[in-house]
This record gives sequence, structure tokens and C-alpha cells, in this order.
Amino acid sequence: MANRKPFVGGNWKMNLHADEAASLAKQLVDSLPSNEKVDIAVFPAFPYLASVGAIIKDSAVKLGAQDFYFAENGAYTGEVSLSMLKDVGVEVVLVGHSERRHVLGESNALCNEKTLAALNAGMEVILCIGEKLEQREAGQTDAVNWGQMALGLAGVTAEQMSKVTIAYEPVWAIGTGKTATPEDAQKAHAAIRNFLTFAYGEKVASGVRIQYGGSMKPGNAKDLVGQTDIDGGLIGGAALKSADFTAICEAAIC
Ligand code: 13P
Repeated sequence: MANRKPFVGGNWKMNLHADEAASLAKQLVDSLPSNEKVDIAVFPAFPYLASVGAIIKDSAVKLGAQDFYFAENGAYTGEVSLSMLKDVGVEVVLVGHSERRHVLGESNALCNEKTLAALNAGMEVILCIGEKLEQREAGQTDAVNWGQMALGLAGVTAEQMSKVTIAYEPVWAIGTGKTATPEDAQKAHAAIRNFLTFAYGEKVASGVRIQYGGSMKPGNAKDLVGQTDIDGGLIGGAALKSADFTAICEAAIC
């Protein structure tokens, strides 16, 4: 894994109410491995960021947000700014999750605005990319990933890339129980790293962590993160159960 510390994120999506979110956070604080060997973050829904943040404060788990708007403040009804997220202790943000791209209609241009704003605000960014089933079947996986990175990372400097993680989440594998085989996922991850090498040079590219996301579970995590270019995971369904998420974080420590 070329000295890259694995990074596992638990994206809780639009799940868990206050009591459930608090209870899961408490269980994770007790059960997760120390952060010396793996970086861990959880991404609760907006209303529970502060309460979950208070529980995981001083633990190995970082607080993350699933979304935000790139403007500093103003007339953007319904939106949340980066400085508001910072106020409640958020250190890492997701950008371009497939559900935001394909359900909420976010464009690559918007993802780029968000990536630049978050990096300028000193946040860590997880830029999510990945192809749909029809794109995969048409042999377009690498082209889709490269396009989403080229547009999403436009203007991001080599220095800023130390705060960027790429999450490769094939859309057809998210929440479906279908997982890319470790070999297929590795092929896509290697092509993603090739793009980063082309864009930023080998030294920077070899330091960027690339997470796999899409039906990762305790049963398949070890085989996936055992691949050369897979540096952890972005977990949805299995992140809602403390035992499963803990097992995946442990599997990521190779
Ligand atoms: P699942 O693990 O439920 O497939 O979700 C993956 C994901 O979208 C994480 O962001």
C-alpha cells in the first residue's frame, strides 16, 4: 500500500435519528481501533453533527459532513456553509457523492466549486467518483472516472492534494449488495492513480488515498483493501452497525 495510511469513512446518509446516532457513536468510540494505523471518520446527517461530534471528541474518530454549499454566507435557503460546519467540529467533507450527482443533480462544475472552497477553508475533502452500470457495460469506467477527476479537481494544487482522498464508488454497487471484484476494483483504482500521476506527478499521486465504496462489508473488506491501490473504504449500509463498521476498520489495517 506504499505507506499510505488506510482511511475508512462511515457515511450514515439520511439514516439514524438522534438517539440512534448517539448510541452508534458511543459504541464506535468504545470499539474502534486506535487511529495510529487507520484514519476513521463518520458522516452523520446535519441535525446530529454537533451531538455526535460531542461524543466522538477526543476519540480516534473524525467528524465529517455529507454536503455543504461553497459560498461563505448569504441568501442560500436550505444550505449550510463550511464555517458553520467548522463551528461544530467538522474536519472532513464529502464532495460529489453519487446520490448527490444522480439523485440531486449536482454537476462536475458544482463539485469543483465545493472542492476548492473546502480546501481553501482547510477541510479535508473526499471527492467521490464512479461510473453507472451502462457506462461500465460500454467500457467507459476509466473515462468517467478521469472526467470526474479532471473537472472536480480543476485548480487544485499539488500541495492541496495532501488533503484530498478519492472515493471510487461504482454507482451500480452502492446499496445493491453487488460489489466490484477485488481485481476489477484494483483495475479501476490503478487507472485512477494513473490519472493522478499524469495530473500531479508520481510523488503526489503515490500519496493520495483512494477508498473503495459500494457494498463493502466485513466479509469482503479484507480482499478489497488487500489490493495495491485500495486504501480503505467509504461505507454506507455496513456503517450503521457498530460491529460491522469496526470489523471493516480492523480489516483495513493490513
Ligand atoms: P453502501 O455501502 O451501502 O453500498 O454505500 C456506499 C456509499 O455510498 C458510501 O458513501
